[in-house]
Amino acid sequence: MEVTFRIRRYNPEEPGKNKPYWQEFTLKDVKETDRVLELLHRVKWEQDGTLGFRRSCSHGICGSDAMRINGRNALACKLLIRSCGPKVQVEPILGLPVLKDLIVDMEPFFAHYRSVMPFFVNNDPVPADGRERLQDAEEQQIINDTTNCILCACCTTSCPSFWANGEYVGPAAMVQAHRFIFDTRDQASQERIAVLAEPDGVWRCRTIFNCTPACPRGIEVTRAIGEVKLAIMRGTREGIINPKDIKVHG
Ligand code: SF4
Ligand code: F3S
Ligand code: FES
Repeated sequence: MEVTFRIRRYNPEEPGKNKPYWQEFTLKDVKETDRVLELLHRVKWEQDGTLGFRRSCSHGICGSDAMRINGRNALACKLLIRSCGPKVQVEPILGLPVLKDLIVDMEPFFAHYRSVMPFFVNNDPVPADGRERLQDAEEQQIINDTTNCILCACCTTSCPSFWANGEYVGPAAMVQAHRFIFDTRDQASQERIAVLAEPDGVWRCRTIFNCTPACPRGIEVTRAIGEVKLAIMRGTREGIINPKDIKVHG
């Protein structure tokens, strides 16, 4: 089949091209099972070597090739062309500054990520046998979904609340916060909850729900945010956080 790509271009360093514009590329002999990333490679290698986009693993693991494809956020390496049709519009994810073509500045996204302390905190002595700190299966299940996040930003950059206010911490940071707040071995839940209870924290989520279908890992993002909201309400009222009390997974 023949496929036409309509790609949003921008190069601040190229005279005459330092404003965003659309450019079309036609590819022949495309198979239905080709992935969008493979075809972007063909555009770059066969037609225009200046096309800029990020990618690394090509297998939905590294999270580096999030793009807005036919109006929806996706990883280019996971999306088959048969899901797109013969006309494919590709643009950068929204809400972050564009550096060149499909490449955005991820720093504001990672600043929100860092703000929720996305690391394990436990000041107890290392277990006597020197081995890992253990959880039972039920405790692990509470955070199993949110441990799958690959920080691709598909969720945050599909959220209208984030588009309207880049100070909003965004769903990806809350997924990461959830992963640690509800980890029964962690001791910094209160600090994370204090960050997310701020005006640009969890309450900027208006339950618009764009984030959940945007997630290429199938994480129940809106549900995780709801659980963080519940933790904040209970934490504020009771002054303590017990992850097992807050658990709402079935
Ligand atoms: Fe990407 Fe999903 Fe993580 Fe959001 S929650 S950053 S969409 S993997
Ligand atoms: Fe945005 Fe998702 Fe909330 S789209 S408003 S973070 S439910
Ligand atoms: Fe790594 Fe797509 S290139 S997730």
